[in-house]
Amino acid sequence: MSSDALSNLMHEERRFPPTEEFAADAVAKADLYDDAAKDRLGFWEEQARRLDWDTPWDEALQWDPPYAKWFVGGKLNVAVNCVDRHVDAGNGDRVAFHWQGDPADDKRTITYRDLQKLVNQTANALTELGVKAGDPVAVYMPMIPETVATLLACARIGAPHTVVFAGFSADALASRIQDADARVVVTADGQFRRGEPASLKPNVDEAVDKCPDVRNVLVVRRTGGDVTWNDDRDLWWHDVVDRQSDEHEAQAFDSEHPLFILYTSGTTAKPKGILHTTGGYLTQAAYTHRNVFDLKPDTDVYWCAADIGWVTGHSYIVYGPLANGATSVMYEGVPHPGDKDRWWKLIEEHKVSILYTAPTTIRTYMKWGPEPLQQHDLSSLRVLGSVGEPINPEAWMWYREHVGGGKAPIVDTWWQTETGAIMISPLPGVTATKPGSAMRPLPGIGADVVDDQGKPVPNGGGGYLVLTEPWPAMLRGIWGDDERYKETYWSKFPDMYFAGDGAKKDDDGDLWLLGRVDDVMNVSGHRISTTEVESALVSHLKVAEAAVVGATDPTTGQGIVAFVILRGSAADEGDSTVQELRQHVAKEIGPIARPRQILVVAELPKTRSGKIMRRLLRDVAEHREVGDVTTLADSTVMNLISEGLDKGSAKDED
Ligand code: PRX
Repeated sequence: MSSDALSNLMHEERRFPPTEEFAADAVAKADLYDDAAKDRLGFWEEQARRLDWDTPWDEALQWDPPYAKWFVGGKLNVAVNCVDRHVDAGNGDRVAFHWQGDPADDKRTITYRDLQKLVNQTANALTELGVKAGDPVAVYMPMIPETVATLLACARIGAPHTVVFAGFSADALASRIQDADARVVVTADGQFRRGEPASLKPNVDEAVDKCPDVRNVLVVRRTGGDVTWNDDRDLWWHDVVDRQSDEHEAQAFDSEHPLFILYTSGTTAKPKGILHTTGGYLTQAAYTHRNVFDLKPDTDVYWCAADIGWVTGHSYIVYGPLANGATSVMYEGVPHPGDKDRWWKLIEEHKVSILYTAPTTIRTYMKWGPEPLQQHDLSSLRVLGSVGEPINPEAWMWYREHVGGGKAPIVDTWWQTETGAIMISPLPGVTATKPGSAMRPLPGIGADVVDDQGKPVPNGGGGYLVLTEPWPAMLRGIWGDDERYKETYWSKFPDMYFAGDGAKKDDDGDLWLLGRVDDVMNVSGHRISTTEVESALVSHLKVAEAAVVGATDPTTGQGIVAFVILRGSAADEGDSTVQELRQHVAKEIGPIARPRQILVVAELPKTRSGKIMRRLLRDVAEHREVGDVTTLADSTVMNLISEGLDKGSAKDED
């Protein structure tokens, strides 16, 4: 973020307190902060008591930095908490999901009772396939109800799931299956995207060829059509799941039993398997979902428009809402210009009252103009959430005016795959919000902004965001890599969790998130590491060297810009090579990592110790005057790059 933008933010004078009516009826009142401040652990225990435990815990927290155990000795079953207990309470007919496929006439209504049957059948099927408690299961699936059932079935039998976003490549899937050591993969033949079927099974076939330990691939028929089949390994969902009993006796698991592993990009090419466990995670997912979104499960219709492949989908499509007995909309598709009013139609049709989405989507709709919204009655919306990246004040105001009818409170929620659940956010019935600020740590959460020495900055100051107290949904480590866990999060400041984000405290002490301070990019709310894209580029025969930066992008937050040095004659092939390289990255990692722009250069700017100076490349990518070059080993390099660009060796892409 430029320093201009930053100082504008710091002078943001607009305040949006909740209406009296909203505040009076809010789930979370101001005393929540007082309760948590008085007795933090007692407060979390009170939240945990909202779940059904088979065995109560002996101790709220064991903290042996950087390792936490929450609700020690307690036992519970996550699926029972998310499904069965609502049926048992007489809410079996309540809708869990209004599911809408990408094709307009593809709809399903899944009640809690339906979900219970589907989860039980899936749990029985996984058991039949030999999956036992503790065995990781890989999930590579579209946004369909079977995906939710698969996650809950895994939770029910204590098998940690590892969901791989269905937009990731075969290679990305293979490396995650191997790292997690999953022996069973659940997938679909394909999914619908922008009205067209897109296959998934070929990616799984390619991935599983590299994973000899995978015994079975369970395949939902979603799109129909031909699929390549391996009789020894592949099983249709309808052959295996449909014939199972819809009863299943659930066993309770230890509060610290692994619930899932979710891979996320770090600063190296190898993604990190973030491990989450059972009791603390579910407690905080449910607590935040209820209080941040002001959930009234009897009357609200909630829609989180994320994909289950990301942590937002895990915590706020599956675990949080279901633990709270919410009614949700689930949508297979993505916003696209050919169908600009689809979202708004869905909101009108289901009278969605709570919407949770990413700033990049809001900016996309801003670009398309408010007309598609104006054709629909959006008056049911009463709370709007934002997640994944800093929301700029213009997008915030547009969200408020055009989506929220100028009255629905906006909750800008900061959190990460590692935190498992929301950490910093307004409470919609309490906080007078400021456009662009995530405001304060939630009750029960400790966060601060510190300087290089780890000292809290005064109001008005900026620095690194840290979390100062262990929290129930915190990651329990990086799967199979303890050293990396300590090094990444706990070595910069002793006993404080380093989030990797820059932040400012304004004069009132409210927090403004400023994006990553490490080599991680944020493209449309998705984390992608610069090193991961660089290593994909250099794996191409024509590339000698590559450097990647995230450049500010008006829609996606950041766009991926790559600088490459080509080998020998490839340098003369120009445009076609650039296209080939963009495709290559999409194939290696997935389309989300395809560089927006690739610039062919003769040299890269490096320090004397050989470190690439990304700061200077970012200046070029963002069309700024290049900053201080005195630490470069060869100070003429930047001239060479600029000259090369002027000669047109650069290729701008959409
Ligand atoms: O940089 C922050 C940004 O997204 C990162 C976490 O990415 P991921 O683990 O993929 O999880 C995304 C969904 C929770 C953070 O380190 N981020 C997330 N939410 C916000 C945000 N930045 C600013 N404001 C937010 N509300």
